[in-house]
Amino acid sequence: MHRLLKRAHLQNLVTYRFRIMHYIVTGAAGFIGSHVTEQILAEGHSVTAVDNLTTGSLTNLSSHPHLHLLQKDILACQPEDFNGKVDGIAHLAATPSVMESWWQPLEKHHNNLSGTVAVIQLCQALGIPKLVFASSAAVYGGQISLPIAENHPTAPMSPYGLQNWSANSTPAYLPSNSDFPL
Ligand SMILES: NC(=O)c1ccc[n+]([C@@H]2O[C@H](COP(=O)([O-])OP(=O)(O)OC[C@H]3O[C@@H](n4cnc5c(N)ncnc54)[C@H](O)[C@@H]3O)[C@@H](O)[C@H]2O)c1
Repeated sequence: MHRLLKRAHLQNLVTYRFRIMHYIVTGAAGFIGSHVTEQILAEGHSVTAVDNLTTGSLTNLSSHPHLHLLQKDILACQPEDFNGKVDGIAHLAATPSVMESWWQPLEKHHNNLSGTVAVIQLCQALGIPKLVFASSAAVYGGQISLPIAENHPTAPMSPYGLQNWSANSTPAYLPSNSDFPL
């Protein structure tokens, strides 16, 4: 009996270890997103790559049998756009530019901050357990001491920094009874 249980436990571990995971990468045709996508695929998992190609390029992504492209704005994505269980989402779709955030404050605010709220809502709707978000050094402002520690005081000095800082706090957009783990 003990031996049978042990074998069942081992089988569970093997199944878990070798299950192909499915991830969504937003901004997958951009600089960081394309590398994250490449790494996930290299580890044997599958990726739905979401990008509206405003600044990204499909030439950043090599074709792969486990890569599914969804050319769409993250703000327009619906849960029905995604098939099957999603194990996690790496949210890298943004306009990472201090200058553009000054020149087009409302547009960039919408893309960077509303885009993150839209991603959180997708996580909730699809029951996605993990969300990874790339913050920016712009959240710390000018007075930084290097290397920047996790608990370094934040003092954003641009709309871009403020948008990143706010996006880091998006769980505050969720109802207090939400059990979404971030
Ligand atoms: N590059 C860096 O050094 C750096 C450093 C710190 C943090 N970050 C953060 O990492 C993230 C990605 O940065 P990056 O350098 O890869 O940027 P990037 O501009 O190379 O890529 C962003 C991608 O997102 C896509 N995109 C933009 N808005 C979209 C939307 N609404 N819907 C779908 N796709 C959209 C673009 O087409 C592009 O492919 C940003 O949040 C940025 O703030 C980057």
